[in-house]
Amino acid sequence: MANILEVNHLSIDFKTYAGDVHAIRDVSFNLKKGETLAIVGESGSGKSVTVRSVMGLLASNAHVKAGTVIYHGDDLLKKPEREMDAIRGSDISMIFQDPMTSLDPTMTIGKQVAEPLLVHKTMNKEDAMKRAQTVLELVGIPNAKERMKDYPHQFSGGQRQRIVIAIAIVDYPQILIADEPTTALDVTVQAQIIDLMKELQRKIETSIIFITHDLGVVAGIADRVAVMYAGKIIEYGLVDEVFYEPKHPYTWGLLNSMPTLETAGKLEAIPGTPPDLLDPPKGDAFAPRNPYALQIDVEEEPPFFEVSKTHFAATWLLHPDAPAVEPPAAIQALMKKHNVL
Ligand SMILES: Nc1ncnc2c1ncn2[C@@H]1O[C@H](COP(=O)(O)OP(=O)(O)O)[C@@H](O)[C@H]1O
Ligand SMILES: [Mg+2]
Repeated sequence: MANILEVNHLSIDFKTYAGDVHAIRDVSFNLKKGETLAIVGESGSGKSVTVRSVMGLLASNAHVKAGTVIYHGDDLLKKPEREMDAIRGSDISMIFQDPMTSLDPTMTIGKQVAEPLLVHKTMNKEDAMKRAQTVLELVGIPNAKERMKDYPHQFSGGQRQRIVIAIAIVDYPQILIADEPTTALDVTVQAQIIDLMKELQRKIETSIIFITHDLGVVAGIADRVAVMYAGKIIEYGLVDEVFYEPKHPYTWGLLNSMPTLETAGKLEAIPGTPPDLLDPPKGDAFAPRNPYALQIDVEEEPPFFEVSKTHFAATWLLHPDAPAVEPPAAIQALMKKHNVL
């Protein structure tokens, strides 16, 4: 499948009074046409900064040290703001974390959903209002035609979330980025929103980057998964590979702390905290929290080792000379159940 987006060796610092925060450290990934890529990792691992760089929406103290973001042959990081404005919300669209605050309480829903089309001059007002109705129907707002005259406060939380999604997809973007779109919602509504996104993907044929700290929602939505830790991708592969054949001890830890895992009940958060990104450790950043750490982990950063043509993990445990280790019991149980062991 063709790549619609390629992020290559991206490194981003933030200038702060305390020094440079090395938030993104040599991140590379691609997004294929029509697929859903999930980016998972604990809070602070760099998920939002990564996708904000794709949108050209980095904070003013951000400094892109290296890397490219290739979309249709162009590096988005080099595009002037005016051109990014044309792409944003049209070709590439984003549903932000905490979307409830992104609706304007003083504007009718119809106008808000139609607005991106008018701003980007995709169509005239009449067609834009028709399209707004179409997408409101697509996202499951009952009586969409009448309700376009209503204001945000006249909708439930779940409906407002659907409206935010309608705004993001109204111009049928090629890439839809969802940054923890369900985090603020209760579990039932979360499931509905995830089903909705899958359905929309089929209907408008968009590629999706879905960000979450909750691995539980990933299995149902993603084709591939990239796991981030301390500003790096440390493992990526097809969803089944990352779930049922995980190789990086950090991925083991994440899976172990997943409430939907059968063995949960004895839910175990990963002990310790991520490193200080003002001064990241020189070896594997996860080493201080990693019960499987080797001597080399504190000395040298692990390269990506190939597990399969589609699955890679950056851990010295995959080096041919590394000692064989047994994953945690819960992970072994998961692998056994899927006939990997
Ligand atoms: N404007 C900023 N100034 C300084 N540090 C920032 C800024 N924005 C993000 N960071 C830092 O970059 C790192 C990655 O943040 P983020 O991408 O938001 O994490 P995630 O989305 O995975 O929770 C964090 O350490 C965060 O504190
Ligand atoms: Mg975030």
